[in-house]
Amino acid sequence: MKFFIDTANLDQIREAQELGVLDGVTTNPSLMAKEGITGRNNILKHYVDICNIVDGDVSAEVIATDFKGIVREGEELADLHEQIVVKVPMIRDGVKALKYFSDKGIRTNCTLVFSAGQALLAAKAGATYVSPFLGRLDDISTDGLNLISEIRLIYDNYEFETQILAASIRHTMHVIDCAKLGADVMTGPLSSIEGLLKHPLTDIGLEKFLADYKKGN
Ligand code: E4P
Repeated sequence: MKFFIDTANLDQIREAQELGVLDGVTTNPSLMAKEGITGRNNILKHYVDICNIVDGDVSAEVIATDFKGIVREGEELADLHEQIVVKVPMIRDGVKALKYFSDKGIRTNCTLVFSAGQALLAAKAGATYVSPFLGRLDDISTDGLNLISEIRLIYDNYEFETQILAASIRHTMHVIDCAKLGADVMTGPLSSIEGLLKHPLTDIGLEKFLADYKKGN
């Protein structure tokens, strides 16, 4: 399972990278705005800065919603750095653009996916990644994890190569549940990754080992 961090915050990206388990980064316009990154040039520069910190894929989202605009923006993003994956919304022109990018060998992440049907369409169009937003489904009392298992079943039935990128992860249990269900990738905040580290028995056990060592030395 690949671990992506879902942020545009360079310090947090560095921290996750230093932990040694980071496989990539996802961003979206809201995450960029949260860091105060505005204006096309600043946004493009920020993507390059992120690519220079991590070794893996960096999702960069298009703003356009029409086919020509998505293609123009996507090609500009893909040209920025070899690690860039073009993030395209699950809309009619987005699906057309996914197919276009796939035919050109440009890697894509189909975002804002909330149903198995949308995920099937993204795979048919040749998306590299599909991003089901499980946290946002949970927010409206719908089982986000169930969507991950539906997509896993469909993709396995037909051996689609599109990778399931479980997005909108909110906490550590989401990460573990997605791993059980066979999501290829998870993207979440730093806290969801660091939460995997923690167990009180680890802390208690280590404290005892160190105390016993001190007694004998
Ligand atoms: C990542 O690709 C998504 O944009 C992100 O996970 C959405 O997360 P949110 O629902 O917490 O905003």
